[in-house]
Amino acid sequence: MEFVVKSGAAEKQKTACLIIGAHKKSLLPSATAIDSITEGYLADVLKRGDLNFKPGHSLMLLHSHHAPFERLLLLAMGDNNKPLTEAEFNQLTTNLASQLRSVNAREVTIAIEEIAVEGKSLHWVTRHVVEAIEYAFYQFDQFKNDTGTSALSKISLKKVILLADRKNAEAVKAGLVQGQAIGNGRNVARTLGNLPGNICHPTYLADEAKALAKKHAKLTTRVLNEKQMSDLGMSSLLSVSAGSEQEARLICMEFKNGKRSARPLVLLGKGITFDTGGISLKPGAAMDEMKFDMCGAASVFGVMNTIIELDLPINVIGMVAAAENMPGGQATRPGDIVTSMSGKTIEILNTDAEGRLVLCDALTYAERYKPEAVIDIATLTGACVVALGHHTTGLLSNHQPLAEELLSASREAMDRAWQLPMGEEYTRQLDSNFADMANIGGPAAGTITAACFLAKFAEAYPWAHLDIAGTAWKSGKEKGATGRPVPMLVQYLLNKI
Ligand code: BES
Ligand code: MN
Ligand code: ZN
Repeated sequence: MEFVVKSGAAEKQKTACLIIGAHKKSLLPSATAIDSITEGYLADVLKRGDLNFKPGHSLMLLHSHHAPFERLLLLAMGDNNKPLTEAEFNQLTTNLASQLRSVNAREVTIAIEEIAVEGKSLHWVTRHVVEAIEYAFYQFDQFKNDTGTSALSKISLKKVILLADRKNAEAVKAGLVQGQAIGNGRNVARTLGNLPGNICHPTYLADEAKALAKKHAKLTTRVLNEKQMSDLGMSSLLSVSAGSEQEARLICMEFKNGKRSARPLVLLGKGITFDTGGISLKPGAAMDEMKFDMCGAASVFGVMNTIIELDLPINVIGMVAAAENMPGGQATRPGDIVTSMSGKTIEILNTDAEGRLVLCDALTYAERYKPEAVIDIATLTGACVVALGHHTTGLLSNHQPLAEELLSASREAMDRAWQLPMGEEYTRQLDSNFADMANIGGPAAGTITAACFLAKFAEAYPWAHLDIAGTAWKSGKEKGATGRPVPMLVQYLLNKI
């Protein structure tokens, strides 16, 4: 979507569709001005009661005489002249984005200052409105021959004009730039997530990372192949790809744009490009959704795109542990024991608990960057979906200040996360009779024991783990990757500047 910022009086806009706020109690400034040039038309309409003032509702007026705009979209702002709550704002942006998908106009003009949210700046509001529009206009139709039948093919909107007072134009512009970069990064993550396993395999991800580095001078991509990983002793990671025809890859995208002396932040994504479960084979129902088991990796790609677009002055390493988990004659057996790069031995009791097996060696490898912090992002456990559903990302950490930075970023980005506890009692569930640890900790607290497993490999730095099993994609009619938690991670990085 093309966005521009413009100053001027709302009632004077020659636009195909002007979008303003409407309170029940009294008219907002632009509504007052429009009411007067339309000889009381607006007050009449509102008196008639056709607009439900509950935020999330709206009313499209197709003709207002004496007005220079062709349509007027009224956004409900509530009953009592108060700023919106965050939840109301969410309703408003969702409704607005869907209205924009169906409006029969090439451009619209939003009086952005009339959308006021409790305790939030205009910059924040603009950014989230822009993010919501970028999200709603995304389409994944590269494998459809007949794109003419897709819902988005009927979309006419090409340009959104954000109308603001001259003194606020800078804030709106800044919010717009961030919102677009986050929206774009999120959509990059969605596309990688949506690609099927036969196309998006570990080598495909490595090629994407190399292509990104080719386009941007500040990014360098290094890729380890199986031979190189084997030489480093990454037998845990390699035990996952053993049954697959597809070779594993460890991808490191190094973005150096901060002080040379500044320690980098490492983002590490789980990149299982398809998870059959391996010899501990998954049941058939909805197994196609295991193409989404690389959404952690996809979010790392998304963040890298956004920070490149924003040219953030920081050092970030985007790592991806990519492998395909398949059964086969060479596949790892339940009961097999492997030695990780750290030297710790692992008894693989369930080959379907493979995410932690690729991540643990990558966590050890990350030590060479002497990181300020490492955050891994993984569709790690079905248990996390049971605990938090599809709304909230699980957060676990060995460093409370880091956990709090991420929670605060998640609130600001409206990309929800919730911290779960860790501890010795849980770690003991991983005890093995035959090796230093088992790769599963039994049915209780599966998300926590998975994090405790990872923590054993993350002792050298502050570390946090985001379990996005419930939030990375949607099932059912709306099946598709969500691009979460790109907004939270970008906010975390923005807060570092
Ligand atoms: N990728 C899955 C986790 C998953 C399952 C995410 C369903 C989203 C929806 C992961 O590799 C896995 O299979 N985990 C197992 C772990 C168990 C064997 C300890 C799980 O959650 O069942
Ligand atoms: Mn699995
Ligand atoms: Zn998995």
